[in-house]
This record gives sequence, structure tokens and C-alpha cells, in this order.
Amino acid sequence: MNRMPLWLEYLGFEVSDPAGWRRLLIDVIGLIPGSENPDGSLGFRMDDHAQRLFAIEGPRDDVCAIGLGTRNAEEFAVHLRRIEAAGVAVEMASSSEAGARHVAALARFRDPWGAPLELTYGAEIAATPFESKLQPAGFVTGPLGLGHLLFLVPDLEAASRFYCDVVGFKVSDVGSGPLHGVQVDATFLFGTPRHHSLALASIGGAMPRFGLHFEMHVPTVDDVGRAYDRALNAGVPISNTLGRHYDGVLSFYGKTPSGIDFEIGTDGVMVDDNWQTQHLTSWSAWGHHSPD
Ligand SMILES: [Fe+2]
Repeated sequence: MNRMPLWLEYLGFEVSDPAGWRRLLIDVIGLIPGSENPDGSLGFRMDDHAQRLFAIEGPRDDVCAIGLGTRNAEEFAVHLRRIEAAGVAVEMASSSEAGARHVAALARFRDPWGAPLELTYGAEIAATPFESKLQPAGFVTGPLGLGHLLFLVPDLEAASRFYCDVVGFKVSDVGSGPLHGVQVDATFLFGTPRHHSLALASIGGAMPRFGLHFEMHVPTVDDVGRAYDRALNAGVPISNTLGRHYDGVLSFYGKTPSGIDFEIGTDGVMVDDNWQTQHLTSWSAWGHHSPD
């Protein structure tokens, strides 16, 4: 990658059922508890970082923080200058606010439609190693970040421009096609070799909610299969059965207690700055059926 990498560092959710989220993330997916933060948020770990997901109690049941990772203070400053030069209002968080996110520094800003973006560097490494009985091989994170988030935008073209020209991502692929009977247009954005860290989706400008799904990546197909079994055994509603996307990711989707889907995936192509953008006309090579 020629450019400065940018990845999904963490995600925060405002949830009406923190206990249900805790059960899903820990007892089904195999994350481990992080800390209870001074701002009331509950942290979860999926690697050596002190926190990758957090949940804070509230009525919105949606994504409340999209943490973007940069490599160091210098690159953080370069990203920040570009964002501010575009006229975006940026607020530097206090050290206690950055502490609740377990990063060295954090700058808050919003996209033109209000998405809660948090540019960061210096993720805190936990004092203890990541050990999960349910997912002993861990999750595929490191320089690729947490996984990905797909969220709705009212204007796909304008949003694609904002996330590339202002935030600093690049388009890997675009697509359009039906998903569970709804016409969806999407733009996939990368800032590391992972095919997408963010994906923007439009359903004709409607915005019934913001976050649609987030993905966590595991090393093997067996890890996906075992997570699928645990989800079925726990009665977690399945949104998409096992299937393989056109970017090569094999995955299934289930519902969080907030209605946002989670995706557990493996495999997938790696991209670089020479990647040729494709226009996909369907989302999956096989599977990913609605169970209904
Ligand atoms: Fe996905």
C-alpha cells in the first residue's frame, strides 16, 4: 500500500439490552470481557487490544462510534489536516474520553449525514493475553483492523466521495442487486489489504436505520462453522445462512439484540492500490439465504 493505512479500529453500539449483547458477544461469538469504562460503556476484546467493541446502554439500538485507526501520531495528524481542510468540524476528545476508548488520542467528526466517526491512534494493548475458550484461534485483526461495518447512507455517490476524498479510503468494488427483496447499491472501501473496512449502502435514499451489519473475521472455515453451530444452539436469529461473497469471504449473519446483524467470516481476497474496481451485480456466489 502506497498510502497511509486506515482501518476499522473499534465499534461502539448504543444498546437497550446490554446483557443480551454480552451473552451474544461472549457466550456465542467468543469475545472476552474488557473493562467497564468510566463513561458507563462496557468493553469487549477480540485480540490483544484492550477493547475492540463497546456497548453503552441507551434507547437507539444502533452504531454510536466508528473508530478509525491510524499508525502513529504523525499519520493521525496528516489524516486530521485533510479532514479539517475539507471544512469538517473536528473535536479533539479529552484524555479521559480517549481513555474510555482505550486509545492514545481521538478526534471526533461526522460525515455530512451524521455518522459518528472517531479518528484514533495508539490503541492500548491489554495487560493480559487474549484467551477465548470458544474461539481459541482468535480473530484475524492486527494491521487489518476489527473487520468491517456496512451502514446506510442517503446519497451513495456523495458519500463515496466523502469517504475517499475526505476520510482517506479507496473504493475496492461497487455493487448493486437485490438483498432479501430490497434493491441495494453499495460501495466497498479499503484502507488496508482487507477488501473493505467500511461499506456504504443505499436503499433508494431511505434511512430506516444506520448500521446494517458488522463483520468479525476468523482464521478458518471450521471457526465459522463452529460459530454457526453455537448461534443455532443459542437460538440466535440467523439473518443469512452460510454462503460465500464475491470478495471470497465465507460467512453467516445473525441478529444482535439491537437488530443490527453481525457477520462471522473467513477467507476473502486481499487488495492493493493496483486493484481493478469491479461492478458486482449480486452479492454472493452461493448461500447467504434468508432462512424464512
Ligand atoms: Fe459483510
